[in-house]
Amino acid sequence: MAVGTHGESFMETDPPASHPARRGGRDAGGDAGGRDDAGRGAGGGGLDGLAHVANKIRDAVESVIEGKPSVVRLALTVLLAEGHLLIEDVPGVGKTMLAKALARSVDCSVRRVQFTPDLLPSDITGVSAYNQERREFEFKPGPVFANIVVGDEINRASPKTQSALLECMEERQVTVDGTTYALEPPFMVISTQNPVEMEGTYPLPEAQRDRFTARISMGYPDPAAELEMLETHGASSPLDRLTPVAHAADVRDLIEVVRAQHVAPAVRQYAIDLVSATRRHPELRLGASPRATLHLVRAARAYAALDDRDYVVPDDIQDLAGPVLAHRLLPTAEAQVERRRPEQVVADLVKRLPVPSPGR
Ligand SMILES: Nc1ncnc2c1ncn2[C@@H]1O[C@H](COP(=O)(O)OP(=O)(O)OP(=O)(O)O)[C@@H](O)[C@H]1O
Ligand SMILES: [Mg+2]
Repeated sequence: MAVGTHGESFMETDPPASHPARRGGRDAGGDAGGRDDAGRGAGGGGLDGLAHVANKIRDAVESVIEGKPSVVRLALTVLLAEGHLLIEDVPGVGKTMLAKALARSVDCSVRRVQFTPDLLPSDITGVSAYNQERREFEFKPGPVFANIVVGDEINRASPKTQSALLECMEERQVTVDGTTYALEPPFMVISTQNPVEMEGTYPLPEAQRDRFTARISMGYPDPAAELEMLETHGASSPLDRLTPVAHAADVRDLIEVVRAQHVAPAVRQYAIDLVSATRRHPELRLGASPRATLHLVRAARAYAALDDRDYVVPDDIQDLAGPVLAHRLLPTAEAQVERRRPEQVVADLVKRLPVPSPGR
């Protein structure tokens, strides 16, 4: 990705020694340009370790999903930003495949829920059942008790069932019969859905959409990638050959590195300006929430880390504005008539808003 011309100016001026990027191999001898590979390895290796593990996961997913590097990068960004991912597109473009490939490349607990109109909230969260022998109620955890939860075709379930995911996604906990159970990190929901206009679907409520860090669409592969797909999908599915390349503990380490990424005050302000501009936009009747600002900056930290930088630049915010903000916005009736999509509104805002200059 292109780093802004003044990228370096968004770095920390005096990096704290406790920054995980420094604790790892990076800049170990105080040599600004130097790299020390000692820390390279699974997790724990600061930014270098992150790049190493993240690249392995990226390669694994890309061995299954042809010709979609930017989609795979966004999916990985959301994982490292402790977020949830919504994959929205027409049938047969590899949505489920992407969710499964990402889940399979990390050695962690994975559960898949196929959303249908008759699915009940307790089918997701779990139920308390009476144990005759022990004469007490026992909690049987539902599929949400996993590190990666693949919610396939989420908009086929009733709103009541969709909302069962609400508490889990935001608070990373489940309350059943008055008892609250924590969900173990990493916890990521990857949901797929067909575009909302399709038949037999219940559009996700705004509050539900707001809980997804990013929405991505797959798009059709180009002819070369489609040809490659035909070859790799010959006798068996490449998913069957995919083996985990990282552990859940590695992902937890990577998340720690991402949390410590530096975001300069000017870049934070830029994110706020962008989000608040959606709230005033004449073509939108619902702008982005403060949760959206949080998600945008968190995602930018992960995105920068995947680019091997320990600081965020405005380009990161710009690249992520569409995937992180657009799905939360509602166009006005007039904008709908003119077929103006929230993605276009966000793209216009990105073009129009002044980008912070290094000294600001
Ligand atoms: N870019 C791609 N790279 C590799 N395989 C692909 C790609 N696009 C589609 N496929 C293949 O097409 C098939 C259908 O994909 P998948 O089941 O993931 O689609 P989907 O988007 O989930 O569809 P639906 O909405 O109907 O559930 C799979 O075998 C998948 O591997
Ligand atoms: Mg599918």
